[in-house]
Amino acid sequence: MRNEEWAPPGVDYTRPSIARVYDFMLGGKDNFAIDRRAAEKALKITPDGFAAARWNRVFLRRVVRYLASEAGIDQFLDIGSGLPTQGNVHEVAAEVNPASRVVYVDSDPMVLAHARALLANARTTMVKQADARFVDQIIGCPEVRRYIDISRPVGLLMFGILHHFNDDEQPEQIAASYRDAIAPGSYLAISHFHNPEEAHPEASVKALMVEKVFLDALGSGRFRTRDEILAYFGDFELIEPGLVPFPQWRPGSGDEAYDPIDIYHTLVGGVARKL
Ligand SMILES: C[S@@+](CC[C@H](N)C(=O)[O-])C[C@H]1O[C@@H](n2cnc3c(N)ncnc32)[C@H](O)[C@@H]1O
Repeated sequence: MRNEEWAPPGVDYTRPSIARVYDFMLGGKDNFAIDRRAAEKALKITPDGFAAARWNRVFLRRVVRYLASEAGIDQFLDIGSGLPTQGNVHEVAAEVNPASRVVYVDSDPMVLAHARALLANARTTMVKQADARFVDQIIGCPEVRRYIDISRPVGLLMFGILHHFNDDEQPEQIAASYRDAIAPGSYLAISHFHNPEEAHPEASVKALMVEKVFLDALGSGRFRTRDEILAYFGDFELIEPGLVPFPQWRPGSGDEAYDPIDIYHTLVGGVARKL
């Protein structure tokens, strides 16, 4: 929780930002009153929002650990990486392979302001401030290419980002451009707001209510259907257990208990491999 006077240059604290609202949900300190007000509107609909954000991170850590240890991935491109928090991608990957390389991409100036924390090891990790919708500018960026060898398999992480691309921004086209750019043997991991429709009607109603709050406050935050989310994987091969609520994805020991009944079916994730 920050005093507005501390806002780093370029940071607009008169409007809520996705990165800072999410930071608040994770119990972070890099958020302002305007962000907390937006978050609290969503929390009124589902107090499980805090647990949901934490579980997104549990899922992310599971995926990175899996990719680094079982899939042999040693370079990661984290699109819409968010503010540094506990268990960042480079830390989890380095536990398995200290030589792992990580490029973080985010458009929020606050993320860059905190890049120093992430750049503890600048030899293996970098942060790029960029709009993730412009795929060529990221994949083609010479600085990014110094860290990521695009001719080799990469772990492409799109956690909590595709739902912040509105329908008219053609998220399926953006995802396709990333899929095309990466080498065979690469993995694409996605977490996404989910509208379970008639499979879970009560959760579906909540999803639409929270969607309205996010669209009003942040201008983005779509709860998409299973088919819409599956389409982002294109012809990549989904690995087991497929697209599922976070806690169901390869549960590990030491995870916190998960009991947010309301939102269990409104957040899903999966990992797929480019053949
Ligand atoms: C909900 S946070 C997710 C953070 C992290 N990936 C995670 O799952 O824990 C979404 C992030 O995407 C970033 N973002 C949203 N739109 C973006 C865009 N067009 N380009 C780059 N980053 C964007 C936001 O700034 C925010 O940090």
